[in-house]
Amino acid sequence: MFNIISFEELDSTNNYAKNNIAILNDGDVIFAKKQTNGRGRMNRAWSSASGNLTFTIVIKDKFLLSKFDSLSLLSSSAIFNVLSKYTSFASIKWPNDVYIKDKKISGILLEGASTEDGLSYLLIGIGININISSFPLELQNKATSLFLETNVRYDVTEILRLFLKEFESLVTDLRNNKNTYLDIIRSHNYLLHKTAYAHFSSIEGEVKIIDIMENNKLKVLYNDEIYELESGEITFHK
Ligand code: BTN
Repeated sequence: MFNIISFEELDSTNNYAKNNIAILNDGDVIFAKKQTNGRGRMNRAWSSASGNLTFTIVIKDKFLLSKFDSLSLLSSSAIFNVLSKYTSFASIKWPNDVYIKDKKISGILLEGASTEDGLSYLLIGIGININISSFPLELQNKATSLFLETNVRYDVTEILRLFLKEFESLVTDLRNNKNTYLDIIRSHNYLLHKTAYAHFSSIEGEVKIIDIMENNKLKVLYNDEIYELESGEITFHK
């Protein structure tokens, strides 16, 4: 299913995929040992020193494009499964991040383009901090790496292969109408029972997180009533 295309260095694997989308195929994986301009969500930079895993999966498959709202959680669940081979402290922070204890180890940047017929492609850009041994001061309380957690260095391409295997298995389940990725995030939900600040419908205030819905939305409690939230409707305290 996957074809890994490797580079020593790129500005951003998502940029490369976007600029070359016409000649890339479904299942191509753009992998760079180092990014010089890694991008995160909300226009933030993604620290991409060599020793971290940075790659982008190109999706053109019609079924997966129709399931685009599941792919972020599905990818987080695949990352969780890989990291759990090395640590028992991983959890998934809906909708995009994987944490080790209270620090972020991985993030996902989904980008796509649509025509009047719907999405024409989707890029799943993934960064996992693997061998990095220190972070800039402002990130030290927020970010971690597999090396910092386990004191072991890893073969980054081996971790990529393990990820692709997990991803493929969760996609196969999805094709068979089995939402295995939801079982994974539900049982390793970083946000479970935490409070957050939400702004939705005409409501604004503290909500308590209680679950993830079948439709991938966050299930929260506000004034003893249950609501389903999208990611733009909620901010977290940390
Ligand atoms: C985030 O948590 O803000 C998302 C981070 C996504 C980073 C990855 S690294 C590979 C791909 N290329 C990029 O420029 N960004 C994504």
